[in-house]
Amino acid sequence: MSILVVGGAGYIGAHVVRLLQQRGEEVVVADDLSTGQAARVGDALLIEVDIAAPGAAESLETAMREHAVDSVIHFAAKKQVGESVLRPAWYYQQNVGGLANLLTAMEAAKVGTMIFSSSAAVYGMPDVELITEDGTEPRPINPYGQTKLIGEWMMAASERAWGLRWSALRYFNVAGAGWPDLGDPAVLNLVPMVLDRLARGERPRIFGEDYPTPDGSCIRDYIHVLDLAQAHLAALDELRDPVLAEEGAVGQAFNVGTGVGISVKEVIEEIGAASGLDVTAEIEPRRAGDPPRLVASPEKIGDVLRWKAEHGLSDIIRSAWEAWQAGPRRIG
Ligand code: UFG
Repeated sequence: MSILVVGGAGYIGAHVVRLLQQRGEEVVVADDLSTGQAARVGDALLIEVDIAAPGAAESLETAMREHAVDSVIHFAAKKQVGESVLRPAWYYQQNVGGLANLLTAMEAAKVGTMIFSSSAAVYGMPDVELITEDGTEPRPINPYGQTKLIGEWMMAASERAWGLRWSALRYFNVAGAGWPDLGDPAVLNLVPMVLDRLARGERPRIFGEDYPTPDGSCIRDYIHVLDLAQAHLAALDELRDPVLAEEGAVGQAFNVGTGVGISVKEVIEEIGAASGLDVTAEIEPRRAGDPPRLVASPEKIGDVLRWKAEHGLSDIIRSAWEAWQAGPRRIG
């Protein structure tokens, strides 16, 4: 039997592929390589397919049958909040349409297990210290977050209709690298954005220092990509075990975070410490739609999946720095 990793050539997917291969699993990757890179999947079989394209359900079904797939881990999606606000219909087509094709293929090929990449973006602007899955009502404030919540609903409906066994992992702020060749290739989030500015000889930017937080900058829950990847393996093991899964993982969404809030200023300081560079920042106006604080309660995933983050901020930043220095845009 094999595991189909959809979007396995991307930043997070490639970490999961490598961990699965390291423990001897048979892995097949499906990716359209729009943002992923073939070199990241090592010697795993790579099928080039755009899951949102017409006919994708049929090609995915064929691939599932051919490779005796028993489980799917689904990463392939568009993930830029700002772009989703500008192109909502396209985000729905890509993220919701792509998942519809994937679920159609799974039902037809009788593949009954799925782990879905969801996001803290489903929560919108919660005004709480720690976000819990059951205590904080999801209220997404942009099309990206909406497509992730709809994804969870689609899987719940598939569970009722044909018995899909699924879990959704709601990622908080992912950064770092498990291996120097698997750093975040995009410049979309705080850590790579700061490194990118430093590589250009520019000062890092802080979007707002007048938030109601101790140092005035926004607080997030930063999670090491390797810890996040391990959470997928924990969920997979649980869902594949019929007894364990019935006890709690099936049909559940889990926050994947640490419970520790870290400010933008603290992240930038840590980058200064790891790199030895001057990281004196420019203060910019607030960015639209940024909640002051987004921190996960990791209690549920700890209880049900027995998963806990192992790496703190210094490991995250050190590994991100090492991966950046191993890439083509080395600083200094
Ligand atoms: N920030 C800066 N300077 C920068 C870049 C970011 O100050 O150069 C700040 C942002 O304003 C924000 C914080 O750093 O306060 C983190 O920003 P990111 O863009 O790295 O991450 P977000 O928390 O905005 O977004 C993340 C995911 C999204 C998800 C969102 C909500 O990247 O996919 O969380 O859950 F939608």
